[in-house]
Amino acid sequence: MANETLRAVRGMNDILPAGIGLWQHFEAVIRDWLASYGYQELRTPILEHTGLFKRAIGEVTDIVEKEMYTFVDELNGESLTLRPEGTASCVRAVVENNLLYDGGKRLWYQGPMFRHERPQKGRYRQFHQVGIEALGYAGPDMDIEHLLMTARLWKMLGLAEFVVLEINTLGGAESRASHRQKLIEWFEAHQDQLDEDSRRRLYSNPLRILDTKNPAMQDLVEAAPKLIDELDAAAMAHFDAVRQGLDAAGVAYRINPRLVRGLDYYNYTVFEWVTDKLGAQGTVCAGGRYDGLVAQLGGKPAPACGFAMGVERLLALMAESGQNPPGAVADAYVVNVGDAATRFAVLAAEALRDAGLKAVLHCGGGSFKSQMKKADASGARFAVIIGDDEAAAGEASVKPLRGEGPQQRVGLAELAGIITKE
Ligand code: HAM
Repeated sequence: MANETLRAVRGMNDILPAGIGLWQHFEAVIRDWLASYGYQELRTPILEHTGLFKRAIGEVTDIVEKEMYTFVDELNGESLTLRPEGTASCVRAVVENNLLYDGGKRLWYQGPMFRHERPQKGRYRQFHQVGIEALGYAGPDMDIEHLLMTARLWKMLGLAEFVVLEINTLGGAESRASHRQKLIEWFEAHQDQLDEDSRRRLYSNPLRILDTKNPAMQDLVEAAPKLIDELDAAAMAHFDAVRQGLDAAGVAYRINPRLVRGLDYYNYTVFEWVTDKLGAQGTVCAGGRYDGLVAQLGGKPAPACGFAMGVERLLALMAESGQNPPGAVADAYVVNVGDAATRFAVLAAEALRDAGLKAVLHCGGGSFKSQMKKADASGARFAVIIGDDEAAAGEASVKPLRGEGPQQRVGLAELAGIITKE
């Protein structure tokens, strides 16, 4: 190992300072957006007991079968898993801390998630989600809130023209059971056309066969019994109400009866926001209702719905649309040449920070010329220039770096006043 180049784990990326501006802009917008809907942040551990994800996401799903980073904690023999998504952890925390004791909760979280998928553009092994979960709300008004929220966010991020909404309903437990039975009968009758994956899932999770990407099975899947034909009146009424809410707010959508989602906990409304600008990994946000999960994880039954977005995918879309906001830049870059100047510059920079300004102190010496180059390249709005004679007088010269303006020499007390905030 000693002489080998050290590399990050495949599919896990560094986010470097040159690219951080977009992340910070995104995170600032997200905070405003969530606050405007009254959502509260929840932070859960990145590691959970493996059983949580098996129970919540489902044993026969791609995530649980082949994508989880699972290992045994050698110190106590427990099987632990790096979270592949946030809903399971959120519900676990809500149940464990009895957060629903006084009614519904609107929660959000953000952070890295881990899935051992084949890395490609828009698909990583460590990726970031912002997730939203509303627990304790049964009515379609909450589904509508989430869909309108997402539509608003795309406008705030300048992405509205790049994404389309697809919705579907999975119905309740009974309609799903009878649809499941019909699917099994359909695929049993066409066993010869099933690939190995689908044959394995025939009895454990026939719904997932509909998700197949195998071109040879598309006709079979297309002609398979549709859930929509099994839906009970309550599920239909819920779905109709969601559609009416979208229509009333002027949010366009496409009904996609093939949309089933890759996690088992969903019922009733499911949705995805997709784009055709990112190649194969075009789903930027996805979610739906999961009314059974709280009880399934040991809580008092409570309805719930939510969604999560892939931050890398959204940022790629923002970059694609020409957005490139700079990271935070300083108000002042403090140039200093000479021993006395360097000692005084420390105090000058502190005085600027006392006044609430962002100041970068040049460290490491060098000529005025080379330091001024660094000041310019830093993006700072002003250079504060200190030589030994300025230091002796307790003064500094201030030079605007962006735009016109005279260079002025002032005492420490007036310094911050010249470098007014932008
Ligand atoms: P999901 O569809 O598995 O749902 O993931 C949500 C989003 O995370 C995807 O639409 C995508 O944008 C992003 N994503 C997923 N995997 C990757 C990856 N390998 N690389 C980059 N981005 C990825 C969930 O996780 C549910 N917990 C959503 C939810 C919340 N449903 C209800 N509440």
